[in-house]
Amino acid sequence: MSGALQRDAAEAQRAALIADALAGLSAPRKTLPCKWLYDAEGARLFEAITRLPEYYPTRTETRILTEQAGAIAEAVGPGAAVVEFGPGDGAKGALLVRGLQVPAAYVPVDIAPEWLEAAAARVAEARPGLPVLPVVADFTQAFALPRRLGPAPRLGFFPGSTIGNFEPTEAAAFLRRARTTLGAGARLLLGADLVKEAAVLEAAYDDAAGVTAAFDLNLLHRLNREAGADFDPAGFRHRAVWNPALERVEMHLVALRPQQVRLAGRVFRFAEGETIHTESSHKYRPERLRALAAAAGWQAERMWTDPARLFSVWLLHAR
Ligand code: TRP
Repeated sequence: MSGALQRDAAEAQRAALIADALAGLSAPRKTLPCKWLYDAEGARLFEAITRLPEYYPTRTETRILTEQAGAIAEAVGPGAAVVEFGPGDGAKGALLVRGLQVPAAYVPVDIAPEWLEAAAARVAEARPGLPVLPVVADFTQAFALPRRLGPAPRLGFFPGSTIGNFEPTEAAAFLRRARTTLGAGARLLLGADLVKEAAVLEAAYDDAAGVTAAFDLNLLHRLNREAGADFDPAGFRHRAVWNPALERVEMHLVALRPQQVRLAGRVFRFAEGETIHTESSHKYRPERLRALAAAAGWQAERMWTDPARLFSVWLLHAR
């Protein structure tokens, strides 16, 4: 991107952050969209979260993908074009393409071009000669696949239980859109965290070392830096709580005392104990995920899990 385009993109992003913050902080129950957690510092902290002893999803999913690589390759068949939604550092994409039979291409899709480069490099190294065709797009909206893919069978890849960070209606909408983008006959390899004991879930999102707390609180620092807000981050603390009715872990920033915050010329008041809901991580029982997929046009073909049944990896088929 040229310097001018990059500045326009940064300005548009800042305007969107401010608009989302004004809307979220004006709501009767304050909230902020979780996508804003992932600036450069947020991405660095998230990377650290994936290595925490309490945070089982990354290592469990990686173990399933490693141990079932042969079964996945066989079910998918040869010649697949892999389309990964939000590839992060490309570690899981590299693991997947290494195991597949002669994949046709790897297409990482993300809004952040700088992350796409890292993922593309990592996958190219794992599978020398594989065409890597990054797409800069917000995968929560419709986007087009590169025409160069031709008729190769599509394999969507959406690991990390990112599906759980959507509200169930948004998750269904994502799956329907992915069905349209990837087309009839496509498959989708989807990682989804399973329902389990509250103590295990709450520890995974509120670790002893405080990394997840720093990740959550970084949102307030970001609003100060990029949106000109005057949050006192020391006036808030991170809380993760399992909501059994909605089967999700909710992350909140809790006001430790009454306070006011200015943002874009407006003042927002917090009572002591009032929270900003920053993220939810929905956990899916297998039957619920199967139904969600079916309602979006995907038939569940296989499900793999680990011996402790912590995490599930699904192969869905668009019939
Ligand atoms: N998809 C991840 C999950 O729901 C994202 C995540 C992990 C996360 N840890 C977090 C989001 C802590 C916010 C805070 O497990």
